[in-house]
Amino acid sequence: MNITVIGCGYLGAVHASAMAELGHRVVGVDVDPDKVAALSEGRPPFHEPGFTEILQRNIGSGRLTFTTDFATIGGAQVHFITVGTPQGPSGAADLTYVHAAIEAMLPHLGRCTDGAEVVAGKSTVPVGTAARLEPVIASTGALLVWNPEFLREGFAVEDTLHPDRMVYGLPGEPDGAERARAVLDELYAPILAEGIPRLLMDYPTAELVKISANAFLATKISFINAMASICDAAGGDVTSLARAIGMDTRIGHRFLRAGIGFGGGCLPKDIRAFQARAEELGVGEALEFLAEVDQINEETRHHALVKARSMLGGSLNRARVAVLGAAFKPDSDDIRCSPGLAIASELVDEGAQVVVTDPAAAPILARDVDLPYDVADDLEDALTAADLIVLATEWTQYTHCDPVWAATLVNGRNIVDGRNALNPKAWREAGFTYAAIGRQ
Ligand code: UGA
Repeated sequence: MNITVIGCGYLGAVHASAMAELGHRVVGVDVDPDKVAALSEGRPPFHEPGFTEILQRNIGSGRLTFTTDFATIGGAQVHFITVGTPQGPSGAADLTYVHAAIEAMLPHLGRCTDGAEVVAGKSTVPVGTAARLEPVIASTGALLVWNPEFLREGFAVEDTLHPDRMVYGLPGEPDGAERARAVLDELYAPILAEGIPRLLMDYPTAELVKISANAFLATKISFINAMASICDAAGGDVTSLARAIGMDTRIGHRFLRAGIGFGGGCLPKDIRAFQARAEELGVGEALEFLAEVDQINEETRHHALVKARSMLGGSLNRARVAVLGAAFKPDSDDIRCSPGLAIASELVDEGAQVVVTDPAAAPILARDVDLPYDVADDLEDALTAADLIVLATEWTQYTHCDPVWAATLVNGRNIVDGRNALNPKAWREAGFTYAAIGRQ
């Protein structure tokens, strides 16, 4: 099928390449000429395992192209909207890019001769957006579907090609709904053939599935971080607790890793946008708990700082601290709402001399000349002469770091394991004072 993908950021670039991988002819459109040039040359603008391969393979096959020219979308059968919906000043999602994308697309819709033409929204939007956009899209003869994406950074290719489930938010009018469903089923046929559940629903429910899934995941992380605080106060061990409660299949093990909390471009902004939307709908109190979830997430970082301070005798002033990890999670170079960088800034505020390192994000950080901390190219540089180490992102390079080797580099043998990802026994045996989150 001929398809277009409007917005070639994280979601769009991966989606475009994955759709080409399925055998479709895909045009990715973006307003940023630099991004389009990089993608066209097969250079990914971000770090994502497996992405370079599918990008280059499909450019090579001629099925995947990128452009800034919206006119090229005319005649295609499916158009995906994959632009960003960042947090606005009030906390609500900013829909500027969605509106701009629709406006740029409109003159070129209604030219498909292959069958029903579908506009499929993938961006995370406030509930009610699709219903508002539908008449505009319908005026061109195209059908609107809301088809949210659940990909995780670090697993984006895998999640796109082998998702847990597919969600189609369909138009209310039955004939339109049926035609739109058939087009998406044809598009996703190789994925659906794996037996992936495909759920049909209305627009508001599809929009809500996406944002409530992220709200639930954020709540799960803050729940275990709240338990970590209780464990710290009561002398318990949150990793044993998580293991034990997770064995109840109603609870499950995943997303119960206590630590310095969630970051990234999705969970923090989505819980705030969801609250803002609930307020607008007059049901703000229903989501008041998400403010607590957000608050616990902030506090868990302070928790790590308190441990760091007490390890160095009550003051971090002039201490050299190595922060391992700037990306919000491993296998990503995304530093949006990075827990590690938030801690690095607070350490600086307390007078520490901070050096941050990250296998993927260090080069991005190093471009910023105004940083309040130093950036080290690698682990060895970062550890050299450190009085304290803070593990902020559980990259394998760091979790596999040999504590005996680390001991030969540092000035003081102190480590705060902000992800509960290290082997406490091994670090203690190498002479380190070891502290973690919610563990003795
Ligand atoms: C999240 C969702 O997991 C995806 O399903 C969703 O599609 C995506 O947002 C989106 O809206 O586009 P992502 O932002 O890639 O994906 O990151 P997550 O894997 O959810 O991790 C978020 C943060 O939570 C990370 O900082 C991670 O370190 C932290 N985390 C995760 C914990 O602190 N504990 C855990 O047990 C799990």
